[in-house]
Amino acid sequence: MAQEDLFKKIIAHAKEYGFVFPSSEIYDGMSAVYDYGQNGVELKNNIRRYWWDAMVTMNENVVGLDSAIFMHPDIWKASGHVDAFNDPLIDNKDSKKRYRADQLIEDYIDKLRRKIEKEVTKAAKRFGDSFDSEQFLSTNPRVLSNQEKIDTVHKRFVKALEDDDLEELKQIILDCEIADPESGSRNWTDVRQFNLMFDTSIGSVSDTASKIYLRPETAQGIFVNFLNVQKSGRMKIPFGIAQTGKAFRNEIVARQFIMRMREFEQMEMQFFVPPGEELKWFEYWKETRMRWHKSLGLGGENYRFHDHDKLAHYANAATDIEYNFPIGFKEVEGIHSRTDFDLTQHQKFSGKKMQYFDNDLNASYIPFVVETSIGLDRMFLTVLAGSYLEEKLEKEGSDEQRIVLKIPPFLAPVKVAVLPLVKKDGLPDVARKIMNELKLDFNCQYEEKDSIGRRYRRQDAIGTPYCITIDHQTKDDDTVTIRDRDTMKQERIPIKQARDIVQQKVSAQNQLRKLG
Ligand code: GAP
Repeated sequence: MAQEDLFKKIIAHAKEYGFVFPSSEIYDGMSAVYDYGQNGVELKNNIRRYWWDAMVTMNENVVGLDSAIFMHPDIWKASGHVDAFNDPLIDNKDSKKRYRADQLIEDYIDKLRRKIEKEVTKAAKRFGDSFDSEQFLSTNPRVLSNQEKIDTVHKRFVKALEDDDLEELKQIILDCEIADPESGSRNWTDVRQFNLMFDTSIGSVSDTASKIYLRPETAQGIFVNFLNVQKSGRMKIPFGIAQTGKAFRNEIVARQFIMRMREFEQMEMQFFVPPGEELKWFEYWKETRMRWHKSLGLGGENYRFHDHDKLAHYANAATDIEYNFPIGFKEVEGIHSRTDFDLTQHQKFSGKKMQYFDNDLNASYIPFVVETSIGLDRMFLTVLAGSYLEEKLEKEGSDEQRIVLKIPPFLAPVKVAVLPLVKKDGLPDVARKIMNELKLDFNCQYEEKDSIGRRYRRQDAIGTPYCITIDHQTKDDDTVTIRDRDTMKQERIPIKQARDIVQQKVSAQNQLRKLG
């Protein structure tokens, strides 16, 4: 199946099974805004919890915060967002579609990279064991020509970004003959800067109302509370402050489902360190965060680091953790060494000291900050994409298949389904009793409608790790069958063991232990 088709199927599946709905759908929807359904909200809560436990509960020197979305407007002047939180946009005059100029160029470079990969795969197949990829890459004329194009465009692109040279960005698009991906037209406007912050006004009377912004990142709430937390919690550097919450960006190009939304959720942590130690901690958090991603079991080979071509105005090192989605490698998390930029700016704009007194050094300083910033919605999409599977069932001569979400059990929205085999003979009463016990520990679902096979399929489709079936034997000997989502194997167990078996598999504790 083509990867783009797979992506479309995942989106359709997410809607059909109550994970993600387009927002305001009965009014024809709103672009780049989505609602999470009954299963989506559970999965989202579980991902958020796993992040929180790994970052806050498991680290004695990281504490939480929940700051307001509305903040003093000067905060965004201090942070540089009013002046510099821009994307370069370009319009196609024929299709009237709007694009990010930098993304058009990145997509062009990606296309050339994919061409090289294809050449390598083809040649590896042709030459078999004797294939020497290094030699091939350094001698094949088509590869060399594409690599030269990549290097030249990449160099111009990085320089244009560094110089904020919008004319050069347009010139690259023209020189590379980049066309509108939808219409194929090359009739472009000039490139313009576009600020991504939403604004609104606070105050009931329009002439006294003042303009405020919806926060484009949660991080600034942490910076402005740095000393409140440090003093009230008697925190000693190095320490971190973490929070999760909504962020808002007026994205130019809204596409790729929940990958790029206008209202989304971030999970961020700012780690405050002595000046000069930031790069050591940057490496530490890079590795720690990659370990967290890989702990989910969605395929270690599907992750990579991607260092930034252009550092943000506040950073002296930055990398992204990317996941290999069906639409290619995309950023899920950013790790940034933000220097002392933000705290220094807030000290300047607020007139309040943002310094920390270090007892060990007997000196005051403005700490440096290493940030880990992950999009909860992108993480949700990572879990969906990494666990969606169409599986052919092994029945002789059958072309039956199932769609199963092999979501890591501790993240699954429903942990166990309780299913009476039939709707009569007192089986529902026994099932209800079991359900009432299990729901004290797990998110459970009770289902008695349709054949047992169809009910198993529905639970597979939402990723439920276990189904417990109550049959006639249950009434005789207090046993039930427990079915494993991944192997589809059923085992007969005493009812009183059910809780422990489920617990063993769905508990996040084992995961957290592995993280160390
Ligand atoms: N405080 C730093 C910061 O906000 P960022 O790289 O702009 O850094 C961090 O954003 C993460 O937030 C990204 O890695 C991504 O997962 C998520 N994110 C950013 N913009 C998003 C959008 N429009 N829709 C969904 N997630 C987004």
